[in-house]
Amino acid sequence: MSIASIIRERRSIHEFNDKPVDRSLVLQLLNDAVWAPNHGLREPWRFIYAEGEGKARIMNGLLTILDKTKLRDATPEQRQKFEEHLMHVPAYLHVVMPEDPRPNIWQEDLEAVSALIQNFQLLGWEQGLGMLWHTGDYIYNKQYREMVGVQPGEKLVGVIRIGYFDDAPKARPRKSAEQLFTVIDQ
Ligand SMILES: Cc1cc2nc3c(=O)[nH]c(=O)nc-3n(C[C@H](O)[C@H](O)[C@H](O)COP(=O)(O)O)c2cc1C
Repeated sequence: MSIASIIRERRSIHEFNDKPVDRSLVLQLLNDAVWAPNHGLREPWRFIYAEGEGKARIMNGLLTILDKTKLRDATPEQRQKFEEHLMHVPAYLHVVMPEDPRPNIWQEDLEAVSALIQNFQLLGWEQGLGMLWHTGDYIYNKQYREMVGVQPGEKLVGVIRIGYFDDAPKARPRKSAEQLFTVIDQ
């Protein structure tokens, strides 16, 4: 597969199948993904991986948080469905960066982490592994951050859901670059 076709064909995966994810594959993909550009070679990232019983514990904690917010008005059936959906995701990768107080450094670091995450998603896709880059409000929730071990002074950039899948969603069209392209040639 060419880089172009992997970029074009990768889709965010919401529904995973039962095939387990091998942690050593995740580490292998991350060892490639960390070759992302990052200014000053600060490598502004670290990873917190949740699988198995750890995943169940963290998702139970998340459900307790969401019971007071997003799930406040959910029926027991809706809540049950949501819980099953969260528990069915094979693994959750938390991507964390240090929050530099200087805005320019903070921005560069977030951009580098974003490049790393996209590398990771594309490398996963090449191996048939689906992902969803997730950024619900809970990534700012103190309880959730403490539960997964995000330290004060760190930003939880995103939670990547990882697993194999049976069907990929259909792509939605993108604008062409020509529509967005301004030329300065004089
Ligand atoms: C920074 C970032 C945050 C995202 N957060 C969420 C999210 O919280 N929930 C979700 O369903 N998708 C999330 N996505 C995935 C996008 O919705 C998805 O990339 C977009 O719909 C295009 O679909 P595709 O990835 O299949 O091309 C996020 C993507 C990015 C880049």
